[in-house]
Amino acid sequence: MRTSKPVALVVGAQGVIGGNLVTQLQSTGDWDVMGVSRRGGDPSERVRHIAVDLLDADDTRSKLAGLDQVTHVFYAAYQDRPTWAELVPPNLAMLTNVVDAIESIAHGLRHISLMQGYKVYGAHLGPFKTPARETDPPHMPPEFNVDQQQFLEQRQIGKAWNWSAIRPAVVGGIALGNPMNLAMLIAVYASICKELNLPLRFPGKPGAYDKLLEMTDAALLARATVWAATEPRCANQTFNINNGDLFRWSELWPRIARYFDLDVAPPLPMSLSAVMADKEPLWKAMRERHRLAPHAYSAVSSWGFGDFVFSWDYDLFADGSKARRYGFHEFVETEAMLLGLFDEMRRLRIIP
Ligand SMILES: NC(=O)c1ccc[n+]([C@@H]2O[C@H](COP(=O)([O-])OP(=O)(O)OC[C@H]3O[C@@H](n4cnc5c(N)ncnc54)[C@H](OP(=O)(O)O)[C@@H]3O)[C@@H](O)[C@H]2O)c1
Repeated sequence: MRTSKPVALVVGAQGVIGGNLVTQLQSTGDWDVMGVSRRGGDPSERVRHIAVDLLDADDTRSKLAGLDQVTHVFYAAYQDRPTWAELVPPNLAMLTNVVDAIESIAHGLRHISLMQGYKVYGAHLGPFKTPARETDPPHMPPEFNVDQQQFLEQRQIGKAWNWSAIRPAVVGGIALGNPMNLAMLIAVYASICKELNLPLRFPGKPGAYDKLLEMTDAALLARATVWAATEPRCANQTFNINNGDLFRWSELWPRIARYFDLDVAPPLPMSLSAVMADKEPLWKAMRERHRLAPHAYSAVSSWGFGDFVFSWDYDLFADGSKARRYGFHEFVETEAMLLGLFDEMRRLRIIP
């Protein structure tokens, strides 16, 4: 691929965030796009997929060896682990291996974009200061997003390229086999409630039902990420990116129920990981009966992430005005985003 267009390397191209980045970059026709993941993917006219295990430094160096034309790296890979401390080594290693491999060969490298999240504000630990701002003071490690940012900041000193770090709320998008996918797990939970003739009950902590939350649409996030990577004023800056509205489950849950044609019953705290563990045979039967696409139950149901998100009995939102001050003005209505994603999952025959 020799071209005068900027060349994007999307790292984590099969993810809920990376997949939308690939779509956004190729939709404009302004970029040559390459995607990296372990799964790889079918090449298309505008995208070349490379299958590589980024945890393996040698594999990364050899598989990325020909990518000397890369100008922009969009890093959105993620390795899940059971504890906050265990997340650090693999996620830092993957980023380091990519930067080591690309920086040494891509002499036209202009930008490295890092996908982060509200964990930089301690949102995963408990009630934190809201709205969280990019200027908020740091908190006690371990936290992998912070280590990744510190690595990039150090690496960039004296270099011709610059970086940006993007901090979305919970992301709304469609992807298969990813550990954090709220829209999909709600859709599958509601579909199973319907199949069992049950009302839709909020399964989270009692205090989580009426707290203020926000989400980030994956397509809006992709546009914001490309904007920050190409707007000179955003060099070496961090940005919260969210839909721009707030919601409470108490308001949204009944509307989700209405979408699925379900009654709402009062919340009942339960571990989705526990109560949905035996529903795989039911899902297989539903797949047959409703002629759904043949995705594995595990690929559409990140129950552990549901348990995490629905346990937030404290407000969870950040100030998104810095991105607006720097020039990104888009917003998305969260309810419309969720219902639109459910429509799309139906169209793709992921849910009935
Ligand atoms: N999802 C959310 O709601 C959310 C919200 C806020 C922030 N974030 C942050 O955004 C970042 C991306 O999250 P995500 O939810 O988009 O993750 P994701 O859907 O799980 O995607 C991760 C990507 O990384 C690839 N990958 C994982 N291990 C790899 C390896 N060893 N070698 C090569 N590729 C590998 C995966 O593809 P393969 O499996 O094929 O390798 C996939 O393409 C994370 O830092 C996350 O904390 C996510």
